[in-house]
Amino acid sequence: MCGIVGFVGRQQAAPVLLQGLSKLEYRGYDSAGIAVFTDKNNITVEKCKGRLKVLEEKVDGGKSIKGEMGIGHTRWATHGEPNYINSHPHVGGTNGSDNVAVVHNGIIENYIDLKKYLQTRGYNFVSDTDTEVVAQLVDYFYQSTNGNSMEAVKKTINKLEGSFALGIMFNNDPEHIYAVRKDSPLIVGLAKIGNFIASDIPAILPYTRNVYLLEDKEIVVLTKDNVAIYNIDGEPIKKEVYIVDWDVSSAEKGGYEHFMFKEIMEQPDAITETISPRIKNGQIVLDDVKLTKEDINNLDKIYIVACGSAYHVGVVGKYIIESQARIPVEVDLASEFRYRSPIITKNTLVVIISQSGETLDTLCALREAKRLGARILSIVNVVGSSIARESDDILYTWAGPEIAVATTKAYSTQLSVVYLLSQYLAQQKGEMTQKDTDELLQNLQLIPAKIQDMLKNCTDIQYLASKFYNAKDIFFIGRSLDYAIGLEGSLKLKEISYIHSEAYAAGELKHGPISLIEDGTLVIALATQPRLYDKLLSNIKEVKARGAVVLAIVQEGMDTASEVADYVITIPKCDPLLAASLAVVPLQLFGYYVAAARGCDVDKPRNLAKSVTVE
Ligand code: F6R
Repeated sequence: MCGIVGFVGRQQAAPVLLQGLSKLEYRGYDSAGIAVFTDKNNITVEKCKGRLKVLEEKVDGGKSIKGEMGIGHTRWATHGEPNYINSHPHVGGTNGSDNVAVVHNGIIENYIDLKKYLQTRGYNFVSDTDTEVVAQLVDYFYQSTNGNSMEAVKKTINKLEGSFALGIMFNNDPEHIYAVRKDSPLIVGLAKIGNFIASDIPAILPYTRNVYLLEDKEIVVLTKDNVAIYNIDGEPIKKEVYIVDWDVSSAEKGGYEHFMFKEIMEQPDAITETISPRIKNGQIVLDDVKLTKEDINNLDKIYIVACGSAYHVGVVGKYIIESQARIPVEVDLASEFRYRSPIITKNTLVVIISQSGETLDTLCALREAKRLGARILSIVNVVGSSIARESDDILYTWAGPEIAVATTKAYSTQLSVVYLLSQYLAQQKGEMTQKDTDELLQNLQLIPAKIQDMLKNCTDIQYLASKFYNAKDIFFIGRSLDYAIGLEGSLKLKEISYIHSEAYAAGELKHGPISLIEDGTLVIALATQPRLYDKLLSNIKEVKARGAVVLAIVQEGMDTASEVADYVITIPKCDPLLAASLAVVPLQLFGYYVAAARGCDVDKPRNLAKSVTVE
């Protein structure tokens, strides 16, 4: 969380920084700030509580601070409440001499010890943040090395525990920005107008597609004409330029009111982009997976590890892989997996799922699994992200940049990769024939068009959203894959509309949750699985008998649902194994329309951030 940006070049920095931050606001929006090395030969900091637009107004779109080098920050608060004092940039120096300005994304775990130490050396602290400690520590080492900036940065990094992406400027140095990362994302952008650092590519995309992807603890020194990169011992490093192959419009709203809606609409294309290169002459071709047939036949277990919606994809994956490939699958929340001594052998495959590729819990779970000897296969959207780089095998989802905090197209592309992976494992194990694969692939290739059809007419869902947008509680029920979809539908709704919502396995209702049903409670019943359809109808009757209003989601042809449910939404007929890909769409739209009707900030829900790079 938090977004950082830095620019040194041949034009005014403040507007460039503000523009960059506007593309990073999805990472946090509690406060924003910039520090610019001004024409008056010193660093000027402007910051404020609240959204970026407050800062933009304060600095008149950047016009009020003149200077061609600066750093900026948009904050998701971890240490200290969102207020002016805790906003970044933070400055370091004794006796009010602001020698250093720092922006930071991540968490410094040993900041209390460092703070105590610095206090004994005459440093005073004004904020509650861990970042201020970094600023003061850089100054401390700067002083103790007689003004050697590089040494000060190196020594600081060696003292920090935790995660960080840092942008650093020195008050007596109008030419250089220093930057470094550890377990938090940071890229370098190489543009005609100058050079950049940023937490994510969209921040620099209006200026360049040429970037360097940084490894942990590589130190970058930017000037307007040069980018030098060093390892922690100060030795220069040569890097290949990575050329971003998507354009600015992918990261713009393109006429839609919200990114989330745009991204829902992009799902057919995103799925096609993701599956097409992997289906060649009727075969599944997973070029980036080096698992051999023998490896696959030896697998004793698969763990799928992820957070949030990506975890929900994992729940679908468990049902699919177990039923197709007959390999035991455990799905784990990354934050639990990493602390629970999982049983891993050399024949265990750990599948990591992550849109950002930077979620800290997921990254740490990956490292733990690796340490225990597992092979890691990751399903990731962001090329070159930490998770991608640390995995043995990578299957990229080609969803393009996802900006809305609530995921939609990344979820859908992750699902489509899971289908391919599952079928691939099944075929390699001899659990499925070529005919089975042909059928699945044909059905999978039809999914984008079916979603497209559903997206052509959203009026039923819009109507239902207008009816229920004031609901206090909404429950989702389903069995098997429908339960997995319910989990995602419930998360989508609650995270953006703030309506309390839970998803239950329909068979579990009688074991407690049914007591929550009151007159008029909305229950969304997912009944897309033919073999469980009758059971779901019974569950619908049970909640109706307790006063619930029921919206059923069924496949075309499951007409009897309308006899028991109050409302029915029909998804196109499909292979039951693939139903999640279709059934999730009305749930995404329902969440979206409900949140919009309630006047919520759909793309930036309160308290959340897109990329969760803290524990
Ligand atoms: C919910 C959502 C989150 C993410 C989760 C993992 O709509 O987007 O639950 O799925 O934070 O993020 P990634 O996939 O980036 O690891």
